[in-house]
Amino acid sequence: MSVTVRSFAKINLGLCIGPLRPDGFHDLRTIYQTVALHDVIRVEVTRGTGIEIRCKDPRVPKDQSNTCYRIVEPAMSALGAKGRVVIDIEKKLPVQGGLGGGSANAVAVLLALEHALKKQLSDADKLRIAADVGSDLPLFLVGGTVLGLGHGEQVSPLPDLPSVACVIATPGISISTPKAFADWDGLQASAKDERAATPSKRAKLTASTPSDRMLMCGRRFSAWLSGLSQSKIRTGKALSGVLVPRGRGRAENPLLDLVRTGIENDFERVVFPKYPELIKVKRVLEDAGALYASLSGSGSAIYGLFESKPSAAKAVARLRKAGTSAVATSTLTRQQYWKKIFD
Ligand code: C5P
Repeated sequence: MSVTVRSFAKINLGLCIGPLRPDGFHDLRTIYQTVALHDVIRVEVTRGTGIEIRCKDPRVPKDQSNTCYRIVEPAMSALGAKGRVVIDIEKKLPVQGGLGGGSANAVAVLLALEHALKKQLSDADKLRIAADVGSDLPLFLVGGTVLGLGHGEQVSPLPDLPSVACVIATPGISISTPKAFADWDGLQASAKDERAATPSKRAKLTASTPSDRMLMCGRRFSAWLSGLSQSKIRTGKALSGVLVPRGRGRAENPLLDLVRTGIENDFERVVFPKYPELIKVKRVLEDAGALYASLSGSGSAIYGLFESKPSAAKAVARLRKAGTSAVATSTLTRQQYWKKIFD
């Protein structure tokens, strides 16, 4: 029996990179948001042994370097199962695009294996297996709006932001995440040298170190979250409804409240100078009326969040006219995510 799973993409609503840790990872703080754009994964467990990955897209690796491949062994072992695992990937998401495509595919395989074998792992086991395979996997076991800490693998569900129209531009540039982190380290090293060479004491105090930036980002997220819970107390309502852009109360505007905290994606600082064409893509989204536009993860996908589907459609048309591939989609709440995953 083959099991079919939708493997949804994510975007990052702000991403703050902290210090490099002794284990080779960087501390980070981010808010992940799942979106409706997805790949389709079919998984079959047959007699025999081995792992086979089938995908028409030549850019998708069929070996160990594919996260789907790497999750099979720990998943089968935890499930106490044996057999040949055949994974069919219908690829729609960009490869190395900052949308978590490969990570989402691997989590889809984990969930499909549970279904195919009619066995269930505990949530804690699934989170452990996912985190062992990659930092960006656990978020896909939560879905919706998700806080990411640690090196991105420590995930907590946040109150869901209402579903909003979203445009994802895929400029066709593959960016390696480890390389982007290494570039970030280079930037930090030069900033440190500059601070050391700065004679003014005041400049030294105001220039931010990775730890300062993490603190600031943490405060921004906390301020936003406490605002959300206070508005829930005031209105007695959970977050839901339509995004209203101007001059309304907090409960109607949770996404805009988050954007107003000044969230940024630190990867823009290293990726944009290298690929200035990406700055233009972000500008097209902003000029087309995006409420917020940003690089997702280490890119090169750039998204814009829009007030309505028609304004998102117009932005897609503008991007395509400018020669950039783009699609209109929407953000997915946790409930939508889990409802649609096996639909
Ligand atoms: O966890 P994942 O396999 O996606 O990480 C790939 C590489 O990206 C890591 O080996 C590390 O070099 C880098 N990375 C990092 N800090 C993170 C996540 C990933 O430096 N928070």
